[in-house]
Amino acid sequence: MEYQPFIGACISHHTSQLSLVTNNSPSRIFQVSIFIFCLICLASCRQKSDSHKPTIGLLMETLKEERWQHDRDFFVAKASSLGCNVEVAACNNDDNLQIAQAENMLAKGVDILVVVPHNGDICATIVNKAHAQGVRVIAYDRLIRNCDLDLYISFDNVRVGEMQAAYIVERAPAGNYILMGGAKTDNNALLFRKGQTNVLQPYIESGKIKIIMDQWATDWQAGEAMKHVENALTKTTDIQAVVASNDATAAGCIQALTEKGLAGKVLVSGQDADIGGCRRVVAGTQSMTIYKPIQPLAETAVEAALQMINNTIVIKAARVINNGKIDVPGILLDPVAVDKDNMRETVIASGYQKSEDVYK
Ligand code: BGC
Repeated sequence: MEYQPFIGACISHHTSQLSLVTNNSPSRIFQVSIFIFCLICLASCRQKSDSHKPTIGLLMETLKEERWQHDRDFFVAKASSLGCNVEVAACNNDDNLQIAQAENMLAKGVDILVVVPHNGDICATIVNKAHAQGVRVIAYDRLIRNCDLDLYISFDNVRVGEMQAAYIVERAPAGNYILMGGAKTDNNALLFRKGQTNVLQPYIESGKIKIIMDQWATDWQAGEAMKHVENALTKTTDIQAVVASNDATAAGCIQALTEKGLAGKVLVSGQDADIGGCRRVVAGTQSMTIYKPIQPLAETAVEAALQMINNTIVIKAARVINNGKIDVPGILLDPVAVDKDNMRETVIASGYQKSEDVYK
């Protein structure tokens, strides 16, 4: 802001000199030199006024999945509305690249790092490197383990798993079940499974529910989930439910069920309310999804980041979550279970998905 008047002065001088550039007399050369000098000042003023804004480094695992594009968009929009720059990088499931991207941002002088870790253990390195430079780190959506993490902002992920399993068990309290987990390198995948187990355990112990397959999909890949279910279906088609941990893995499972004419007959859970998941829910091939309001998550993270940069902490971390080394202050938002009956009043009413896209 303080550089604005100077930019204004440069611009007005710049325009008044434009007509002088064609003549070579000494006074013209002098005027042209002044003009060039002003252009240089203008460029440097712009740089300075931008570099005076706080900058958040947002390190993501991927931007190929719809969910994370929403996160990025809400995050950047909130940050710019608060006069803050965001540097975004996605590592596409490559741990070394994620560390290199963090180092690069630290070298550029970001004021804080907000990290969606690909691997919750390996990213402890990023936290250590950032702290060595006096930069704080917020773990976004996924916990970073075994380090002095500054803040963790996510949803109640155990609750997500409980909601998934409760929905399915209410409709199929007995029979053969498949558990389709996500990436084991993602702490959330373990929390979803913990929540699912909280609900399923009594049914398993009483013998009502039999787990005929318990699998994890590397990097949450739909193709891997599909192969696991195809494999299960070579042994039996007597399957009542697939507790899939998100919509991507649900998509793979449902594709395998479709090949055997079982889609819509076997209950399948999901998570993210992505457009494919929502369409399958209203079409009846996926029983439910979990809608996690991403906008408040992203906006809370931006607000917390700015408060941490300015050392004016106002946002209260209501929980503490042990990450294996310390009790990390945590903010956990509430997830919402969605099926075809409440799709309109949840996902669509919030504007997360459009009615015409879901009911296409
Ligand atoms: C997120 C889910 C997402 C999954 C795969 C998890 O950490 O919480 O919302 O579906 O990663 O990207």
